[in-house]
Amino acid sequence: MAPAAADGTRRMTKKPVNKGGGARALKTRVKKKRGLKNSSRRWLERHLNDPYVHRAQAEGMRSRAAYKLIEIDDRHKILSPGMLVIDLGAAPGGWCQVAAERVKATPERPRVAGIDYLGMDPVPGAVVLEMDFLDADAPARLVETLGDAPDVVLSDMAAPTTGHRRTDHMRTMHLCEVAADFAVSVLKPGGHFLAKTFQGGTEAGLLDMLKRNFRSVHHVKPPASRGESVELYLLAKGFKGRVGDEAAESGDSRPAGDEDTGSGSGEG
Ligand SMILES: C[S@@+](CC[C@H](N)C(=O)[O-])C[C@H]1O[C@@H](n2cnc3c(N)ncnc32)[C@H](O)[C@@H]1O
Repeated sequence: MAPAAADGTRRMTKKPVNKGGGARALKTRVKKKRGLKNSSRRWLERHLNDPYVHRAQAEGMRSRAAYKLIEIDDRHKILSPGMLVIDLGAAPGGWCQVAAERVKATPERPRVAGIDYLGMDPVPGAVVLEMDFLDADAPARLVETLGDAPDVVLSDMAAPTTGHRRTDHMRTMHLCEVAADFAVSVLKPGGHFLAKTFQGGTEAGLLDMLKRNFRSVHHVKPPASRGESVELYLLAKGFKGRVGDEAAESGDSRPAGDEDTGSGSGEG
């Protein structure tokens, strides 16, 4: 019988073709079978041949998505030891793993609070609530779980796909907007917000709100985000603080070394 992959999918493969001789040239093909739609077969084939999937399995990462956060953080420096982090749409836990490791969280001193309506295995250093972020009491529960205001709010939330592209797009954009409102209501001055969005999907109103509240706002597309995907991340750095916040009033909200680059597309 065909072996089960670490993600539970069962490989229905022809022998790998190794045209180039290197490991990357090995191409796993999925047999055309009755009952498997062409689109599902293509998805499975792409998944089985994805180097990030192989890397995640080899390195004990819960998801290939973990590498998106690793790449964004390596470049834009949003996580550092001692920080408190909220992770929206946490399952299966890749971003929790990366965040917990980079802020040096431990099981004794968890520094990451996550939320997802899907259950997931525990991640050391993170506490994950199994609930819908859109529930009225979710924001308060997250801050209470973290024990203090977060330095970073992450959102990789994506609405379940319906097959209707525009509907999926609008639902995920809605999640991004709710996450942004949450971030400006809870972040510490100087904090950062990173959220999944779509190319061409970020509303002008949301961008304006972020530009008013953060020192810099960028769109970023990490290499781990598939080129053909319209997925993009919105990175807002250096929260200016709310009126009445001590650090905001003293003008002490700017993290050392952060530049006011305004907004723009690309990895700049
Ligand atoms: C792309 S996955 C996140 C992957 C995660 N960053 C990782 O590295 O493992 C998106 C997640 O968002 C969650 N999600 C979508 N809408 C949500 C909501 N309203 N409340 C909580 N979680 C939600 C989904 O259940 C899904 O697990």
